[in-house]
Amino acid sequence: MQVGIDQIGFYTPNKYVDMLDLAHARGVEPNKYLIGIGQSKMSVADQSQDAVSMGINATLSYINKVDLEQVGLLIMGTESGVDQSKSASLFVKSALKLPPEVRTFEIKEACFGMTAGIMVARDYVRLHPEHSAIVIGSDIARYGLKTGGEVTQGAGSVSVLIKANPRILALTSGHSAYSADINDFWRPNNSAVALVDGKYSTEVYLDFFQRTFQAYKSKQKMTTADFTAILYHLPFVKMGLKANRLAVAEQDAKTKKRLEENFTASTLYSKQVGNIYTASLYLGLLSLLENGTLSAADTIGLFSYGSGAMGEFYAGKVMANYEQALNKVADEKMIARRQQLTIADYEQIFKQALQLPADNIELSSDEAPGYWYFAGTKNHVRQYQRK
Ligand code: CAA
Repeated sequence: MQVGIDQIGFYTPNKYVDMLDLAHARGVEPNKYLIGIGQSKMSVADQSQDAVSMGINATLSYINKVDLEQVGLLIMGTESGVDQSKSASLFVKSALKLPPEVRTFEIKEACFGMTAGIMVARDYVRLHPEHSAIVIGSDIARYGLKTGGEVTQGAGSVSVLIKANPRILALTSGHSAYSADINDFWRPNNSAVALVDGKYSTEVYLDFFQRTFQAYKSKQKMTTADFTAILYHLPFVKMGLKANRLAVAEQDAKTKKRLEENFTASTLYSKQVGNIYTASLYLGLLSLLENGTLSAADTIGLFSYGSGAMGEFYAGKVMANYEQALNKVADEKMIARRQQLTIADYEQIFKQALQLPADNIELSSDEAPGYWYFAGTKNHVRQYQRK
């Protein structure tokens, strides 16, 4: 029996900053951001979008195709949690009207959280093939105004449905994981923005990629040429490019060309959305599926990385007619509909979004009808509403 990704939903907030504007405002040569970092835009979440509302919105795009009574598990991976105790997934469960019998919880290991959820869901569905599982990654990457990491921010969510006989990607059995207790990127409880040793984090990321990729190939008796595409956690496009360069080194021209072209296809959405931490790898998957050159049974490798640090390499096989389970037009529209912010507006929205609104003050949202948003707290209980 095959188990894997049957549906993919995506949401990003309705505002963005253009990297050219940011470069000018910060006195940086634009090509550093556009080429050196590899980003052209980044989504910005205002106070009315958080991990919960974005996770609901990402899942809404496919929920009408799901038999809700079959959903046995709902996992949310996030490092932008809204409560120290209650799982973000309970708010999502309630908005999506999932049955009370669903097992639901939040999972955390930096950007690795969604992959951890997918692995748990894959094994759960293998044991309970009559059930499906929803796994959501949802994050707002915030490093702070005028910091080195500012250019690598972003906001958004990707949600997947894991089930037996999937329509998009069947997950293969093997994996290779690697962890180490290090301090490359973290966010203390008293900080709304991440702390990061940026250069160190990029070194560890590449080291973990090489370790897990080599271990995976050796365990599965595969070579690099067996992969049609390799996907990477994409905190920013240049980071994945560096890993892909390591992957294609010493490959023949045909393999190199295929992996490079599919890598480019996998970065088109992230280039415009920015880092969405847990969901970044899966935004790359969506971008590849909707813009790459793939055929049924092609093998796609996925490298997941969460600072702190945890890395994992695994793979999936493309299902026949996978395009029919996607909605490229809607996903492109999601990115194209965003309104451009001036740097002054972005800075104001950024500062405001770091604060929790005063209790018992209702927040409004300028989102389009149908989307969910955070409407403030009532007696310190978070409220979510649909426009
Ligand atoms: N034209 C073209 N390229 C230029 C340029 C120009 N005018 N000026 C500079 N560049 C290039 C540089 O040569 C450099 O390229 P290489 O990396 O290939 O050497 C690139 O632009 C970036 O320049 P710097 O290294 O000088 O940039 P920086 O010191 O400002 O820092 C950063 C970059 C470390 C990524 C920083 O943005 C950061 O800390 N970001 C957050 C941390 C992060 O995302 N780490 C990734 C791994 S950790 C992870 O993946 C978990 C997660 O999601 C956070």
